[in-house]
Amino acid sequence: MATRLRPFVVLLSALTMGACDDAPRFTQAEPGEALAGGKATVNKRDVNAFSMPSANLSPVRRLDFSVGNSFFRSPWVIAPSTTTARDGLGPLFNTNACQNCHVKDGRGHPPEQDDVNAVSMLVRLSIPDDPAQAELIKKNGVLPEPVYGGQLQDMAVPGVEPEGRVRIEYEPMPVRFRDGTVVELRKPTLSITHLGYGPMHPETRASVRVAPPMIGLGLLEAIPDAAILANADPDDKDGDGISGRPNWVWDDEQQTVALGRFGWKAGQPNLNQQNVHAFSGDMGLTTSLRNFDDCTPTQTDCLAAPNGNGPDGEPEVSDNILRLVLFYSRNLGVPARRNIENPQVLAGKNLFYEAGCQQCHTPQFKTRHDAAEPELANQVIRPYSDLLLHDMGAELADNRTEFQATGREWRTPPLWGIGLTQTVSGHTQFLHDGRARDLLEAVLWHGGEAQAAQRQVLAFDAEQRAALLAFLNSL
Ligand code: HEC
Ligand code: HEC
Repeated sequence: MATRLRPFVVLLSALTMGACDDAPRFTQAEPGEALAGGKATVNKRDVNAFSMPSANLSPVRRLDFSVGNSFFRSPWVIAPSTTTARDGLGPLFNTNACQNCHVKDGRGHPPEQDDVNAVSMLVRLSIPDDPAQAELIKKNGVLPEPVYGGQLQDMAVPGVEPEGRVRIEYEPMPVRFRDGTVVELRKPTLSITHLGYGPMHPETRASVRVAPPMIGLGLLEAIPDAAILANADPDDKDGDGISGRPNWVWDDEQQTVALGRFGWKAGQPNLNQQNVHAFSGDMGLTTSLRNFDDCTPTQTDCLAAPNGNGPDGEPEVSDNILRLVLFYSRNLGVPARRNIENPQVLAGKNLFYEAGCQQCHTPQFKTRHDAAEPELANQVIRPYSDLLLHDMGAELADNRTEFQATGREWRTPPLWGIGLTQTVSGHTQFLHDGRARDLLEAVLWHGGEAQAAQRQVLAFDAEQRAALLAFLNSL
């Protein structure tokens, strides 16, 4: 019965302007609205807008931030080397510095037609679940491709074959607004060529992801679990067509299941583990939490290559470096909003609520009083994300599961700072694989649970579209 009713509900809400009849109407800015990251908000709107320490960080603590920044920015080298603090890159890797992907702490992009390798984007690999491997799936979220592992590395040290090259091709996909205006979206298709280790498993699933921006991550980490779970509605009991599910993932350090928050499918529970997996998967660097290189048993050259571990087996990345990079990644401040009193921005904000965007892009949270760093505690923040998973429809699906996330689900990305993307990253390519070439295209790709919101936008006239974009650009 419920399944037959559902399309009807969606259609109805698409036809009535104002899916949310209780949508608030804003005639002026809310108190404190400009401070997207609470007291940690930074007042910077140039190319360095994403690279500033939390505004409430004391000068002494800014020193740790700077040292963490240097380890995020500087390249690691191949072992053995005289720079023992920074050696051990590879054997397989994607690039030699965090910053190469998170350029200016901003977002990555898919490769251009003639790029040799795909810096700032990576491809996750897996094969269908096998009940015999339940323990591995529980801790890993997926079954990695048996020869290539969980991530394609398109670079390698001399003497080791890179795993392959990625290429993305696009086909046009027109979408028509009610007023007749047509926007041509581009639909991506991935191909992996130059395979270094023979054919992949025939049922390999690949998921293309660009690097997300690094701002406000410590604040997101400091949102209480309960506040995130309060918005979850897995069975859509309130009947609004939007479910929202938590991803339950594996915490490597606590050896337990934990709420996922980071990554495009919320596959990582906290920043330290996200960083550890980045060191390992993206750069081939070992840490005390993951003291092995990303080589599969078939990749014998990879297994045999020299590593940068210390004489007593100390990992390539010391605990101290890990701690400094963690401090850095927790404290990149969120830039202040711009133009919040502008009438067009306020009109766009009203349309954002009328279309129901805030049902997933949750405007506001308050961080824990016992956050990991005192600067991050008790802050009213405006990330515009619920950090939950949503079915976004077949067109956005990667058809690859990750812990609880299905092949159609994605975590709502925070929208704070999104209006500064062009300034910081020099492009406006959005969504998990960078397929959208501007903010409007990003919205038009919304399907599944967000179909009703997308239909509302399709009914907007030129003035309303401009207002919605003015609001998004003020974030
Ligand atoms: C090859 C490009 C690449 C490199 C190098 C890289 N990252 Fe990332 N980073 C990504 C991608 C892609 C994601 C999204 C991953 C996903 O969805 O599974 C990500 C996600 C993250 C996130 C989570 C952000 C969020 O909004 O959820 C953090 C934190 C992070 N990376 C830190 C680092 C650190 C620290 C390093 C260096 C040790 C690093 N990254 C190196 C591409 C990269
Ligand atoms: C059902 C939940 C849901 C609703 C409703 C929703 N979104 Fe989203 N939004 C998402 C998810 C999930 C993604 C990420 C999808 C992906 O990357 O494939 C996203 C991505 C975006 C992005 C790109 C962000 C980035 O970092 O690349 C923008 C911009 C955006 N949404 C704006 C809107 C607007 C405007 C509306 C209302 C018209 C809206 N969204 C409604 C869940 C939602």
